Amino acid sequence: MTEEYKQFDSAKTDKIPIVPGLVKHISGLKFTELISIIVIFVVSLVCVVFVILFTTGKPTVVVEENVCVTAACLKSASYVVGNMNKSVDPCKNFYKYACGGFTNNNRLDSETYSKTVYSKLYYENEEKLKNILESPVVNGNDHSAERKLKDMFASCTNSYLKERAKGYPFLKKILPNTGGWYVLGTWNSSTWNMQNALEKVHMDYWTNALFRFRVATDWNDWKKRVIEACIHVNVYQDFDL
Ligand SMILES: *[C@@H]1O[C@H](CO)[C@@H](O)[C@H](O)[C@H]1NC(C)=O
Ligand SMILES: *[C@@H]1O[C@H](CO)[C@@H](O)[C@H](O)[C@H]1NC(C)=O
Repeated sequence: MTEEYKQFDSAKTDKIPIVPGLVKHISGLKFTELISIIVIFVVSLVCVVFVILFTTGKPTVVVEENVCVTAACLKSASYVVGNMNKSVDPCKNFYKYACGGFTNNNRLDSETYSKTVYSKLYYENEEKLKNILESPVVNGNDHSAERKLKDMFASCTNSYLKERAKGYPFLKKILPNTGGWYVLGTWNSSTWNMQNALEKVHMDYWTNALFRFRVATDWNDWKKRVIEACIHVNVYQDFDL
């Protein structure tokens, strides 16, 4: 008789030990320990069943060849998918299926009366241009177009400085150069010359006064270009002279 049988006998049970080692163990366990072992066994069994089910079925991630997975491609793909509404049946309403997500992702608010794919692109581009114009100047020499552009942008958008300067640039720098203003008593009618004043405003300040110039195709000969002067009413409305 082996060691296990001897111990089994000493437990004084009349059950036939099928697996002597196991029975010897079980007989020495408490009820809670027994329950734990059964639970662990069942959980392991369920895991094994799941693993078998998933490995024999279709793989969940299909890695196809020749599919672009760069950040830009993934971004575009997610944008397109995000603008779809896949819960709509494409055979019933293809437009809603393909574009239904767009209205959901682009709610209108009290300040916006319309949003389109193009208007979104427009505003995104504006944002990009703003970032470029606000970035530090790389080529800062005297003739640098980059520096001029960024300086000009900064001068228009620095509202704190504009607020502090108030009318100073106009009153002290521009008015004296164009012959003064009768309201301030700085205008002298005997010395003021309209031609000179217009020249200054158009050429030095790049501002249209009374009329504006433009280069256009000659109406009589389309191979020629002519300089046209138009009455300047406002930016959107011009009357040709
Ligand atoms: C998709 O369409 C259904 C049915 O028209 C609608 O109830 C749901 O809100 C839409 N979901 C999105 C995300 O647009
Ligand atoms: C206007 O200019 C003339 C010519 O220079 C001068 O004689 C006259 O005193 C000036 N008038 C005023 C009010 O400054």
